[in-house]
Amino acid sequence: MEGRSAWGLQLLWLISAGCFAGKMKIVEEPNTFGINSHLLSQGSRLQARTGPSAAAGPAHLLRLAGKCFSYTESTYKYDFCPFHNVTQHEQTFRWNAYSGILGIWEEWEIHNNTFVAMWMREGDSCGNKNRQTKVILTCGNTSKLAQVSEPQTCVYSLTFKTPLVCHPHSMLVYPVLSEKLQKEWDEAEQAKYDELITEQGYNKRLRLVFEEAGFLKPTDPKPEEKKPSPTHQTVDQCRQESQKQQAEIEKLRSLLQRHNISYETGRDTPKAPESPEPTVLQDEHLRGDTGIMPDKL
Ligand SMILES: *[C@@H]1O[C@H](CO)[C@@H](O)[C@H](O)[C@H]1NC(C)=O
Ligand SMILES: *[C@@H]1O[C@H](CO)[C@@H](O)[C@H](O)[C@H]1NC(C)=O
Ligand SMILES: *[C@@H]1O[C@H](CO)[C@@H](O)[C@H](O)[C@H]1NC(C)=O
Ligand SMILES: *[C@@H]1O[C@H](CO)[C@@H](O)[C@H](O)[C@H]1NC(C)=O
Repeated sequence: MEGRSAWGLQLLWLISAGCFAGKMKIVEEPNTFGINSHLLSQGSRLQARTGPSAAAGPAHLLRLAGKCFSYTESTYKYDFCPFHNVTQHEQTFRWNAYSGILGIWEEWEIHNNTFVAMWMREGDSCGNKNRQTKVILTCGNTSKLAQVSEPQTCVYSLTFKTPLVCHPHSMLVYPVLSEKLQKEWDEAEQAKYDELITEQGYNKRLRLVFEEAGFLKPTDPKPEEKKPSPTHQTVDQCRQESQKQQAEIEKLRSLLQRHNISYETGRDTPKAPESPEPTVLQDEHLRGDTGIMPDKL
């Protein structure tokens, strides 16, 4: 409540500033209304461009969902909310302190059968890209953010220490998979061993297993969307294509006939063209196709 009213006053201040530029100083900056209300208002005006992926991964880590961990370095405070987001808040009492989204939970980074890091992507825009953050999970005696860096412009790296990853088997991928997906992995392993697939083919199959488990974001979501009714779409498309091709064949037949060009066909009596205005269409074809068609046929 307090946060919102402070923001309201900021707006009021802006509007006043715009309308009565000469009287700007009359309205005080909102920190007059309390330090806490100002800081509380920071998160509430951030607009995520996308929703987070579903929480997935080692079961004992899923209980981190809904929690947030803060870390302050120099003038910035970072908030990491596992399976949700990473945000950055400038610690200043200026009314327009910077606050931004550094990423929204998207997928795991997996190396060598091990969950290594959480990728938070699609954060606030940064030039022609969006900010993104890799949160590396390492063993520590309490759960806390420990480090932040920006290895590339607008790509952030956070280190999250937690006892939840200290056991040597705690971050293995295989035990987290369903039986069905474990079987698919086993089969890929066997196929690689038997040299039926290449290393590349093996990695591809493994990636599909991880995608199906929800650990990785599907690389090409478009074919997925088409999947729900593949039979109907295929049959309809097939019928339409077939009708189109039939019409095209009839047009070409009548065109050949008109010019007394003989052609071989399984059928003796070609049907009349289905097109409503065959003459016009044929004339178009004539101009476009003269010299090519007789040679080809
Ligand atoms: C970030 O995640 C936290 C915890 O789930 C949530 O309360 C907050 O609204 C999120 N912020 C944004 C900007 O998505
Ligand atoms: C992969 O992990 C296994 C243990 O799970 C380890 O023995 C092996 O050295 C690792 N390989 C690489 C390339 O990190
Ligand atoms: C956590 O580990 C640090 C050293 O890395 C140690 O100083 C500290 O006492 C430990 N805290 C707890 C609660 O065990
Ligand atoms: C096409 O052939 C028929 C006889 O088979 C002939 O009567 C007609 O004049 C010919 N038309 C053209 C355009 O050559």
